[in-house]
Amino acid sequence: MMDNLDPNRIPHHIAIIMDGNGRWAQKRHLPRVAGHKQGMETVKKITKVASDLGVKVLTLYAFSTENWKRPDQEVNFLMDLPIKFFDKFVPELIENNVRVNVIGYIEQLPEKTQKAVLDAIDKTADNDGMVLNFALNYGSRAEMVTAMQKMATAVQNNELAVEAINEETVAEYLMTNSLAPYQDPELLIRTSGEERISNFLLWQIAYSELLFTDVYWPDYNGVELVRNIIAFQNRDRRFGGLKKENK
Ligand code: FPP
Repeated sequence: MMDNLDPNRIPHHIAIIMDGNGRWAQKRHLPRVAGHKQGMETVKKITKVASDLGVKVLTLYAFSTENWKRPDQEVNFLMDLPIKFFDKFVPELIENNVRVNVIGYIEQLPEKTQKAVLDAIDKTADNDGMVLNFALNYGSRAEMVTAMQKMATAVQNNELAVEAINEETVAEYLMTNSLAPYQDPELLIRTSGEERISNFLLWQIAYSELLFTDVYWPDYNGVELVRNIIAFQNRDRRFGGLKKENK
């Protein structure tokens, strides 16, 4: 199958909505959190595979601004996951030259979660390979509201002229600006069969290829990722223009 993969056309930025942890666990008569724990193992595997393939940015939706509605026990478990993950995995990230980045309102996370995240960012800051970008307490509309507030403030302070605002300006005010020049994912994958965007990267996915797979996130693996990238490579991306052969 690798034969069909074009190593010269790997998407620079892949974003993944890691869905189906709960159903994976349910199917096995396990508590939901067992699915999240297994999902964390998938994160490790996919990070390695994506990095080896030459992906520049891998964005993973780990916790949305809406996920606070879940039972306390599950939220607490999810808040502990980055701590467990980075505790064990930072040396391997360093070995693989992966840099950790975060988008989202991390100041609202429990102190210990923030610390784990900031430590990982700090310890991997010098790596110049793939960026492992976690969306943590992230919501796209909230991100846009914050960006608009900041732009309005800049206008008010005469630091930004209204006429000067263009698409690049908006992109600069979004949290993904830290990923430049790869702010926008070429490929967005959602696992578990749900076909929704769920408030993820709404601005940034304007031209992304959307790929929905039935596999639950804990069952997702490198073979699936390669399969999904091949499917991406077989699509005809036109950006509003015409097919290549009709140009
Ligand atoms: C969606 O599945 C998944 C989440 C809300 C959590 C995602 C978190 C991980 C995969 C682990 C992240 C790891 C780190 C290192 C932060 P769901 O619970 O909505 O599944 P369901 O739709 O089947 O109930």
